[in-house]
Amino acid sequence: MTQATILVTGGAGYIGSHVVRQLREAGLPVLVLDDLSTGFREAVLDAPLVVGNVGDAALLDDLLPRHQVQSVLHFAARTVVPESVADPLRYYGNNTCATRNLLAACVRHGVQHCVFSSTAAVYGPNADGRASEDTPTEPISPYGRSKLMSEWMLRDLDANASLRHVILRYFNVAGCDPQGRIGLSTRGSTLLFKVACEVATGQREALAIFGTDYATPDGTGIRDFIHVEDLAAAHLRALAHLRRGGASLTLNCGYGHGYSVREVIAAVERASGARLRVVEQARRAGDIPALVADAQRIRTLLGWQPRHDDLDEIARTALAWERRLQQRAS
Ligand code: UD1
Repeated sequence: MTQATILVTGGAGYIGSHVVRQLREAGLPVLVLDDLSTGFREAVLDAPLVVGNVGDAALLDDLLPRHQVQSVLHFAARTVVPESVADPLRYYGNNTCATRNLLAACVRHGVQHCVFSSTAAVYGPNADGRASEDTPTEPISPYGRSKLMSEWMLRDLDANASLRHVILRYFNVAGCDPQGRIGLSTRGSTLLFKVACEVATGQREALAIFGTDYATPDGTGIRDFIHVEDLAAAHLRALAHLRRGGASLTLNCGYGHGYSVREVIAAVERASGARLRVVEQARRAGDIPALVADAQRIRTLLGWQPRHDDLDEIARTALAWERRLQQRAS
């Protein structure tokens, strides 16, 4: 790899900060751009941070040439599905319009590569069971649509030879840095592992299981949980692919097998050594019974191999981080 600076937008967030850490460990020069609206200054560790908005054209016109940026890893986005339903224009503004401004600046300043954080939410309810990259997209939330529109912009820029990309469609990201330096700090998160760890640490009364009557082996929903360390490693591989001159790609990021809500709860119980208080509730609107990645393409095309495909490891690292957050707050 050459040593041109890599701009990481949203690098102070959960997934972005793990990628920044791995890039730094690989000796690559990184500049983080994050407005700290949902990210945390301490999450970038010792990486250089510019506090600003990814849609700010004047800021980008300064940063991109000054740091000779050739590659952008674009994480900055809002990611809470129910919030996107309540306030869609905020999502189209933050996720789609800001991405448009970022991409326009990339084109103006000759940036060559973009690795983009997309989501399995682009598939929609028809992708019940298993989704491959060729499964038709049909997002049902403004969040999913805001991400899909960004995918379209990237494909159009590839088609006219302006910018090459790797679009990574994340399945259910969980777990934290095994060394406990960074983790998922987002307040008010509704993600299953986060909620379970908050119950295990006494910050929440109980965990609600949303639906126990699905046509799955134990009646609860099934998802493909990928450890954030493996997901971060996929970004480094995607970047290396683009820097080698590789063609634009769209790739699922998951393990290709799933666990149920009850299996996740059991893993968090094993990690904490105590039972979680659980209440069974009705299905949550918008949830599908099962979603697992067809995850062969990323292995074949990028040579990516999971190293942390272990639900207990995900639970241990997520719980350790939750305890650390709790200590910090007290
Ligand atoms: C969520 C997003 C999805 C996004 C993904 C990764 C929603 C509706 N979907 O996926 O768009 O791509 O995160 O960021 O927000 N569950 C419970 N109790 C809880 C929380 C969750 O039973 O307190 C169940 C859910 O019903 C589901 C599973 O756990 O079956 C996973 O849920 P969650 O962690 O919220 O992720 P997704 O909804 O799959």
